[in-house]
Amino acid sequence: MANVTVIGAQWGDEGKGKVIDWLADRADVVVRFQGGNNAGHTIVVGNSTYKFALLPSGVVQGKLSIIGNGVVVDPWALLDEIERVRAQGLSITPEVLVLADNACLVLPMHRDLDMAREARAGAGKIGTTGRGIGPAYEDKVGRRAIRFCDLGDETALATKIERLLAHHAPLRQGLDLPEVTPDSLMALFAEIAPKVAPYLKPAWRVLDAAMKDGRRVLFEGAQATMLDVDHGTYPFVTSSNTVAGQAATGSGAGPDAGGYVLGIVKAYTTRVGEGPFPCELTDEIGERLGVRGHEFGTNTGRKRRCGWFDAVLVRQSVTISGVKGVVLTKLDVLDGLQTLKVCTAYRLGDRVVDYLPAGLRDQASVEPIYEVLEGWRENTHGVRSWDALPATAQAYVRRIEALIGARVDVVTTSPEREDIILIRDPYEG
Ligand code: GDP
Ligand code: IMO
Ligand code: MG
Repeated sequence: MANVTVIGAQWGDEGKGKVIDWLADRADVVVRFQGGNNAGHTIVVGNSTYKFALLPSGVVQGKLSIIGNGVVVDPWALLDEIERVRAQGLSITPEVLVLADNACLVLPMHRDLDMAREARAGAGKIGTTGRGIGPAYEDKVGRRAIRFCDLGDETALATKIERLLAHHAPLRQGLDLPEVTPDSLMALFAEIAPKVAPYLKPAWRVLDAAMKDGRRVLFEGAQATMLDVDHGTYPFVTSSNTVAGQAATGSGAGPDAGGYVLGIVKAYTTRVGEGPFPCELTDEIGERLGVRGHEFGTNTGRKRRCGWFDAVLVRQSVTISGVKGVVLTKLDVLDGLQTLKVCTAYRLGDRVVDYLPAGLRDQASVEPIYEVLEGWRENTHGVRSWDALPATAQAYVRRIEALIGARVDVVTTSPEREDIILIRDPYEG
C-alpha cells in the first residue's frame, strides 16, 4: 500500500497538521520521526481545535500513532499534552500511542540551557522555541543522553546520570544555573518512568509488523527543509534533519518506506525566530498577511514574520527532499491583494543565482528578483473546487507549480479539515 511522507518545504507552519489529519482518514499508522515539542501542528474539525506538539496528528482519528526514535521527547510535556487532548475527548491509550523505547529524553536541564544560552546571545540569538531541543540533540549525538529504555534500570541509570552531569555541571556553572544533583535526577526519572512505561515499545518492530500486514503509513514531518540542520539557513535552524530522508532513520523503517513525498507549501512565506528571510515584508502587506493568516506560533504564540512566495527556496526543498507533489496551503489569505509577487531568483552582488547559497553572509545579502502576478478580489475562503477559484488564483497556482518543479496536488482554503481542493490524489503516487 502506498505510504506518504509529509514534510514542510519552507520554514515551518505550512499547515502540515491539517494535511496529515486529512490524509489520516485513509491511513492506518501515523509516525513522527524528528523534532520534539518545538513543533506545533493545528487541526480544526468543526468546533474543535487540536494543537499537537509531540503527539502524531493521527490521534484525532484514533489511528495507531508512533513517536519514533528520531524524536526527542520531553516526557512531562508529552503527559500534559495527553491530558489536554483527553479533556477534548480524544482517547489516548497504549493501543493508539506507541513511544519508541530508544528515543532520547528532553530534560528540564536542556530547557534551562536552551533559555540561558538564548538570553546570553543577545542579538546573536537563534530565536529558539526554548523547549530544550538543541541541547537534547547535542546529548544524543554526544552519546550521553538518557533514553526511555534506560528508565527501568536503576543501576545503569546511575552511571548514565554521572556521565551526563560530568558534561552539564561545568556548563551550568558557567551560565550561573543552579547545580543539578544525581539524586534529584533519579527522583525525576522514578516519578516519570511508570507513567510512560505503558507506551514504550520497540517502535521499529511495531511499524514493520504494520507494513507487513499491508497497513498504510503516514510519516509526519515537523519543522521544514529550511530549518534542517544540514540544508537549512544554518545556524538559524533546528537541531534535527527535517527532510524526507529522515523519515527512515527517525522511525527505523527502510529508505523506501516513505513512499510518496508530499511537500507542504504555504502560498506565501513565513518564518518565526531569527535568521535570513530574503522575501520578508516589513510593510503593511506583511502585516496584512500576518493578520489574515493568523500568523502566531501555535505553541509559543510568537508573531511570525511574513513575506512573498519564494519559489527559489521551495524549488530547493523539492530537490533536497525528493518532493513529488505539493499541497499549497492558505491560498485564501491572499484574497483581496491587487498584485502578488513571486521570487524567481536572487541577485547576489552582480550575479543572478537560482538557489540559496550555503554561507550565512550570502544568505543575508541575496535580494529577491520578483515576478509580478495579478491578484483577485473574490473570496476563496472555504472554496472546495478548482473551477470555483478565480482565474487569476488558478494562474497563481499554475505559475508556482512551474517555478518549483513539482505539481500541486491539493490547495487548501481554510483551517477546516474539509476545505480542500483536490487536484490529484497523493495516495495515487
Ligand atoms: P504546521 O506546523 O505545519 O502543522 O502548521 P501550524 O498549525 O503551525 O500553522 C498553520 C496554521 O494555518 C494553523 O492555524 C492552521 O489551522 C491554519 N491553516 C491551515 N491551512 C489553512 C488554509 O488553507 N487557510 C487558512 N486560512 N488557514 C489554514
Ligand atoms: P512546526 O512543526 C516554525 C524554529 C524556531 C527557531 C528554530 C530553532 O510547527 O512547523 P528550536 O526550538 O527548534 O531549537 O528552534 O526553529 N522552529 C520552528 N518554526 N515551525 C516549527 O515547527 C518550528 N520548530 C522550530 O522558531 O527559529
Ligand atoms: Mg506549526
